[in-house]
Amino acid sequence: MTLPIIIDTDPGVDDAMAILYALAAPEVDLIGLTSVYGNVPGALAAANALRLVELAGADIPVAVGADGPRVQAPVGDATHVHGPAGFGTVSLPEPTRLADPRSAPQFLAENCAARPGEVTIVAVGPLTNLAAALDATPGIASTVRSVIVMGGAVRCGGNVTPYAEANIWQDPHAAERVFGADWPVTLVGLDVTERITCTAADLLPMVSASPRTGAFLAEAAEFYFDFHRRTAEIDGCHLHDPAAVIAAHAPELFTTHAAPLAVTLDGEAVGQTREAPSGRPVEICLDADIEGVRAQFLCALHAGWLP
Ligand code: BDR
Ligand code: CA
Repeated sequence: MTLPIIIDTDPGVDDAMAILYALAAPEVDLIGLTSVYGNVPGALAAANALRLVELAGADIPVAVGADGPRVQAPVGDATHVHGPAGFGTVSLPEPTRLADPRSAPQFLAENCAARPGEVTIVAVGPLTNLAAALDATPGIASTVRSVIVMGGAVRCGGNVTPYAEANIWQDPHAAERVFGADWPVTLVGLDVTERITCTAADLLPMVSASPRTGAFLAEAAEFYFDFHRRTAEIDGCHLHDPAAVIAAHAPELFTTHAAPLAVTLDGEAVGQTREAPSGRPVEICLDADIEGVRAQFLCALHAGWLP
């Protein structure tokens, strides 16, 4: 059985890891990408998504999404984490592919409606496109199979402030909309993703097995590794976005706890995700088979399915 997914992404080094994992895992059917601002500005996110698709020799559409949040003022990008153009110091050529003519929210709604109950949306950037899709096409909630969100820090501290994780901090209003909608949501946040890591040595077999994508990822990740060395004092990096794709693909590797979620919308703790006393329950990942997730990620990348 293949798993049809759409990745909503702000590429980004770990976004690239997640997308390459989805393209490499034989049971994952990556229908397309929708781009969103976040790690880099919106236009660059769209171009980077197209660049990744071309690099991997994949024939999948990229639909362009939001360039900023809809309610609060933009908080700025994360090029200090992912490099000036999003892929560390690597500069990939201008994409020759064109973006899909549909907007990201339209693309999400139409693909979910075309295969009711089948498509999983994996959101690994700010949730602006998903909130816009809910507003424009409320019926999307009943046609999607599930929504997996990389974001939040429920029982741990944040990574951009003591309270907030980056994707939720970028657009807390969109997160509130997405968590409150009538669709099944799983949150893969810092509670688990900061425990799942990979090192430069882990990527080396990919360089031999898949020379083009492997060399790109190994080089792009150097900048991301450096950021983690300086700030988290680890040798390697956190696998935030790949963990969300793996939670869609191999949910048995994660332990979840169902609880409604509230998002702090302003003040010092803006962007915080908290368990709320009432509301729609969200499946919150609080634990995972850490070695199992790592192995799942590396096995797919080492298998040589990518160019
Ligand atoms: C999230 O923020 C971004 O920097 C990463 O790509 C990931 O989606 C981690 O907090
Ligand atoms: Ca991301």
